Amino acid sequence: MAQNREAEELIEAAKKYVWTNLSEYSDIEKEPKIFVKGAGCYLVDVNGKRYLDTFASLLTTISGHHRPEIAEAVQKQMAQLEFFPNYHDCYTVPVIKLAEKLAQLAPGDLSVSYFVNDGSEACESAIKMAKQYFWQRGESSRNKIIGRRYSYHGATLGALSATGLPDFAEPFHPLVPGFTHAMSTWCYHCELDLEPSSCGLACLKNMEQVILGEKPETVAAIIIDPIPGSNIGYPIPPDGYLQGLRELCDKYGIFLIFDEIQVGFGKTGKLFACENWDVTPDFMCLAKGFTGGYLPMGAVLTTPGIADEFRRPGKDFRHGFTFSGHPTVAAAVLAHIEIIERENLVERAAAMGKYLKERLEQFYKYPIVGDIRGMGMILAIELVADRKTKAPLDPKLNVGTWIRDYCWEHGMILRNNGEILVIAPAFTMTEEEADKMLGLMEQAISGAIEQFEF
Ligand SMILES: Cc1ncc(COP(=O)(O)O)c(C=O)c1O
Repeated sequence: MAQNREAEELIEAAKKYVWTNLSEYSDIEKEPKIFVKGAGCYLVDVNGKRYLDTFASLLTTISGHHRPEIAEAVQKQMAQLEFFPNYHDCYTVPVIKLAEKLAQLAPGDLSVSYFVNDGSEACESAIKMAKQYFWQRGESSRNKIIGRRYSYHGATLGALSATGLPDFAEPFHPLVPGFTHAMSTWCYHCELDLEPSSCGLACLKNMEQVILGEKPETVAAIIIDPIPGSNIGYPIPPDGYLQGLRELCDKYGIFLIFDEIQVGFGKTGKLFACENWDVTPDFMCLAKGFTGGYLPMGAVLTTPGIADEFRRPGKDFRHGFTFSGHPTVAAAVLAHIEIIERENLVERAAAMGKYLKERLEQFYKYPIVGDIRGMGMILAIELVADRKTKAPLDPKLNVGTWIRDYCWEHGMILRNNGEILVIAPAFTMTEEEADKMLGLMEQAISGAIEQFEF
């Protein structure tokens, strides 16, 4: 509830004039929040209430809120040249420096960057790069894209067509033709009811079946999130899956696109998620934590071999956005990367992630905790009615949302997707903050058990 006149007026104006993303109006009616300040892992709302941010502003502020170095870099660039587009034959200095830096950091020969403004544009662009590549080489019938069920790749129509979550796409049919989906690596809910120890990588076999069913010579690219995101709570792919996928793509001449928008840039305890399996895609999409949340930017990294197909006289990529490669944002991202390196934040994410996972595993003492998964700073708890059978909780009870609301009420931002609770805090989280987060989560879970009489 608003505690002062200014807050009340802002809330009224917000409800009247602002249309929020993915708006859930029952929540807005309950209690809209207006944030005014942030520092480290904390946010403050217009009423002065402090919140521990366990989801890093939707997986973006990985080095914490309020980094004066980034603000300074932005101011400096703005004072010099706020914007000139990165198109045709024009570049700006921070964009060149950022691309050079990414080439040093990225695995394999992913040394060419194509900048965009967010994650959806990154996936959309990678898909179109793959399609145009084959088109201009005279293979225009190689134009299909295979995604996976339960993956999310963005809100634009191409990225949405690659997405494997029907709820997001339902109102927008017909989607873009030429997209199909293979099995996910959500082992806890394996579509075939198999166990990872004995399944023989059935999900990889399914991918090959889908390729063969579509006819390999018609498939331009496979797009996957190496670790599916918060919608299904970060299931780790079984060993051999990503390596096998790379082999399949090589065998059939198909491009492999990794969407690391949510799980890249240090979240797994390595700078890029694919480095955990030593697999390098042909295109890697970045956004979210890449910028530290300061300004919006996404990128598609690819190889010189692919990029040069477009960077020849008489060729051009028939695609682009006005604000792509914004120099002020590039300056912010460079400053953010400097912080990550100076403070060893990726190593810190690995160590803190290990601590969090070990502590979370103690939550198995609660019978409604069905599965605890994830790695590094992307972790999830899936709640169930029966751990043995994995029977779901009655969706009418909205237990996950009850837990989320409890945490918000007690000054902690917690994200849930139904009965999946997800945490992805800033890598700078201290052990004290981590203990506070885990303590409140535990309090909320045991509160739910009492509330719903489980
Ligand atoms: C894995 C993944 N891909 C793509 C996107 C789309 O990114 P954006 O919302 O920045 O357009 C998201 C956003 O949640 C994501 O998690």
